[in-house]
Amino acid sequence: MEVNVAKTAGFCFGVKRAVDQVYEQTEKEKGKKIYTYGPIIHNEEVVKDLRSRGVEVIHSEEELAALTEGIVIIRSHGVPKRIYDLLEERKLQYVDATCPFVKKIHNIVKKASEEGSHVIIIGNPEHPEVQGIMGWSLLPVTVIQDAEEAEQLSLPEEQKICIVSQTTFNYNKFKDLVEIISKKRYDISVLNTICNATKERQTEAKSIAKGVDAMIVIGDKHSSNTQKLFEICKKACNNTYYIQTLDDLDMNQLRSVETVGITAGASTPNKIIEEVQKNVRINF
Ligand code: F3S
Repeated sequence: MEVNVAKTAGFCFGVKRAVDQVYEQTEKEKGKKIYTYGPIIHNEEVVKDLRSRGVEVIHSEEELAALTEGIVIIRSHGVPKRIYDLLEERKLQYVDATCPFVKKIHNIVKKASEEGSHVIIIGNPEHPEVQGIMGWSLLPVTVIQDAEEAEQLSLPEEQKICIVSQTTFNYNKFKDLVEIISKKRYDISVLNTICNATKERQTEAKSIAKGVDAMIVIGDKHSSNTQKLFEICKKACNNTYYIQTLDDLDMNQLRSVETVGITAGASTPNKIIEEVQKNVRINF
């Protein structure tokens, strides 16, 4: 059997860097309590493994404010500026694992708002990354995620505006929304801050799925980017299976196939991808 594993399967650069930093801290700072501000990634296996090494997840600003000691790790999504202020105020030690691509957006937003621009973020207002970005503007911010909201935008004429995007937003949708806003009479500066990691993973998955008899997509059931990856692969290859770990894989389904493709969502650890790959190869 031929097994084709996607090169872009699993962690993107920013997530890998953040997860590595947590493991590094557990080694370096033995004896100290380590916290991540929010789950470091949306993967139960990793969060469980980290818990077994004494890493706890903080879920709210209130919980953070109540800490008196320990090391806090800021995850790749980034956080609003006020969280850094809170950490400084509480004299808490912290490690900033914000993805550099997200950090770049924070800097853009900060500078634009200092110069009097109204910042528009194209993205999902509920997403922690967007909430983090919002928290770097000195002025009120608008978040837009669909055409209706873009049409409804109403700011003083000739207002300077700066448009940025959530890193995982769809490029075509971003372009459409920018076009709607551009028709209004504002002084617009647009910065496409979309990260290509997601798109590259999807493009590669689709091209692999097209050429194989069966496709395996590995990722947490709650991971939206894995769900999307599954949909894309399913369209290209009807025999596509969504698994969280090796235990979910039914080898019988692969009995009669000759070629298998494997990909994984952005929060799937390499260890799980390796395990699945090895087992598929061994069993056939
Ligand atoms: Fe960073 Fe892009 Fe991943 S912004 S966290 S490398 S999806």
